[in-house]
Amino acid sequence: MRRIEILHGANLNLLGERDPLHYGTLTLADLEAQIESWATELGLNVSFFQTNAESAYVERLHALRGEVDGVILNPGSWTHYAYAIHDALELTDLPAVEVHLSDVQSREPWRKVSVIGDLCLATYSGKGPDGYRLALERLRGHLDEDPES
Ligand code: DQA
Repeated sequence: MRRIEILHGANLNLLGERDPLHYGTLTLADLEAQIESWATELGLNVSFFQTNAESAYVERLHALRGEVDGVILNPGSWTHYAYAIHDALELTDLPAVEVHLSDVQSREPWRKVSVIGDLCLATYSGKGPDGYRLALERLRGHLDEDPES
C-alpha cells in the first residue's frame, strides 16, 4: 500500500485553540483521525508528524527519503520564509502537496508567499480539512499515473 506522511509545523498542535475563523474547531487529533479515514477509503497508508522546531521538521524530511511514496506538508508559518524546509523537501525527491487550512492568499501579505510551492504538485488553501482529502486524492492520482515515482 502507498505510504503518505503528513507533516504539520509550528503551532498546529494547538488547533482547536487557534482562531476558529481561520482554522476551524477540530483539534489536531480530530483532524488526523479524519485524514486517516479518508486515506483508508482511498487505499493509502498515512503517518503523521508534528513539531514546533524547524530543525526537527528538516530532519524528519531527511528521514523520509526512500521511506514513503509522498508527503503532504502544512509547515504553518515556516511556509512563508523557511528556505531550509524548501531545500530539505527538494532533497527528498518525493511527490509533495502543500495544504493550508486557512485561505493564506486573503490574509496578511506575508502569508501570500510560499517557499515550498514550486516543489509541490498542488496547493490547497482555505478549504479547511477538505484540503487534506484533496491532497490525498492528488497524490494518489499522481502515483497511479507514475508507478515508478
Ligand atoms: C497555516 C497558515 C499559515 O500562514 C499559518 O502560519 C499557520 C497555519 C494554515 O494551515 O492555514 O500556522 O499553514
